[in-house]
Amino acid sequence: MKRKIMNGKWLGMVVAAAFFGLAGVTHAGGDPAAGKEKAGICESCHGPGGRSLDPDNKPVLAGKSEKYLLNALREFREGKRNPGPMAALCQSLSEQDMADLAAYFASQKP
Ligand code: HEC
Repeated sequence: MKRKIMNGKWLGMVVAAAFFGLAGVTHAGGDPAAGKEKAGICESCHGPGGRSLDPDNKPVLAGKSEKYLLNALREFREGKRNPGPMAALCQSLSEQDMADLAAYFASQKP
């Protein structure tokens, strides 16, 4: 009985939808490859791959937690953090851009 239900295509879809729905809450679903494409401007300040050449003034991003990075970007965008260059920059980023960028920098070796 159980097996028969499990074979239902619809159930697989429901499970997949639930999984991605949950993943959306706990994980931004950023794509590091897409993030890399968008990271050129970031790297001009934060260094190649987020390995800052001037870490006292421009924080290292490489290897930081994806969640932490995404949170920071959201806070800049919402004006909850220091209104430096980041706040203005983040205005032009979509939620997906931020997720991709966070995934990319998190995936880099510090
Ligand atoms: C004009 C230089 C400049 C550019 C371009 C820039 N940043 Fe920043 N970024 C900074 C500075 C300066 C800080 C430190 C600001 C602060 O926390 O007060 C910072 C902070 C951050 C932080 C917080 C780091 C931490 O450890 O708290 C993140 C995340 C970040 N930047 C991501 C990005 C991303 C992603 C991009 C590209 C969309 C980007 N930055 C482009 C200068 C820049």
